[in-house]
Amino acid sequence: MPIIAATQDAIRRAGEAVARGDIVAFPTETVYGLGANALDAHAIAKIFAAKARPRFNPLIVHVLGLEEAQGYAVVNATAQKLAGAFWPGPLSLVLPRRAPSAIPDLVSAGLDTIALRAPQHPVARALLAAAKVPIAAPSANRAGRISPTSAAHVEAELGDRPAMILDGGPCPLGLESTVVGVTGDEVILLRTGALPRERIEAILGRRLAKAKPDGRIASPGQLKSHYAPSTPLRLNAKAPRAGEALLAFGPDAPEFDGPMINLSPRGDLAEAAVNFFAALRSLDAAGAHAIAVMPIPDHGLGEAINDRLRRAAAAADAEPPLAAGAHS
Ligand code: TXA
Ligand code: MG
Repeated sequence: MPIIAATQDAIRRAGEAVARGDIVAFPTETVYGLGANALDAHAIAKIFAAKARPRFNPLIVHVLGLEEAQGYAVVNATAQKLAGAFWPGPLSLVLPRRAPSAIPDLVSAGLDTIALRAPQHPVARALLAAAKVPIAAPSANRAGRISPTSAAHVEAELGDRPAMILDGGPCPLGLESTVVGVTGDEVILLRTGALPRERIEAILGRRLAKAKPDGRIASPGQLKSHYAPSTPLRLNAKAPRAGEALLAFGPDAPEFDGPMINLSPRGDLAEAAVNFFAALRSLDAAGAHAIAVMPIPDHGLGEAINDRLRRAAAAADAEPPLAAGAHS
């Protein structure tokens, strides 16, 4: 069994494993990551194989902080302001790659940009310190599936493909990092996530631009279908139907005899975010015809939850096997 409690000794061994080119799953404050030495193309290739990705998708490189990030990317004043406000934490910055760079092209799928993030989780930070290399890590799920927020989820997704799964308990935020692209003065929201848009806009003093499909920075991992449960989702349901499971939110959830999880009975979006992926996973296993999902307010963390719900609901739509981009 590759799950191992994230003791100091286990983290030290995981760091050695990463440094010698193995892949290791580890907790971050957002979701569990599947990490490899970002300087080692062979190690990176193991990530894509383990996730069974139909195509290479650019990865987020995890570093300890701004100074380390500056070794791999050009961090302009706007990007520095965002890193200063939110690192360590759930913000990934897509920045121009330094050329030449110690990071192989495979990490950013041949793009001239690179995504960087300084995680806050103590286990992730201790692993980075032990490995002494930047760690490229996608979410530790199979391609297109629900992101893992516990070590058990990782094992259910990837079995013994990771050399180790460091167990640091459930992820404190529960949604992936918010991804923004910075070019010059322009800041583009590429993926909603655990850092609400409003907090970034407060620091910038203006609204965030949305990614355009043909924009200079695109986010290739942003496919319509993602986070796919096997059970169909019925969004904005007022009440569950017979044979359905219910994903509820808030104090006004209906009484229901069937499988039901309330993401936050008191209607708190942060609590809902923490519970979201585990709830989706558990209702998916309940054997229902469909999962009815109550409406979730579309502000703050609700924006990211609704984004994941739409992608999960789109999973049933047919998608060509080699769509432009790949699930992440
Ligand atoms: O919270 C997180 O971000 C987690 C933890 C492990 O850090 N990681 C994660 O990675 O969610 P992944 O691979 O599942 O999603 C990375 C996202 C994808 O949407 C990808 O397209 C985007 O970041 N991305 C990465 N590099 C990029 C680049 N150079 N340009 C545009 N988008 C990029
Ligand atoms: Mg992912």
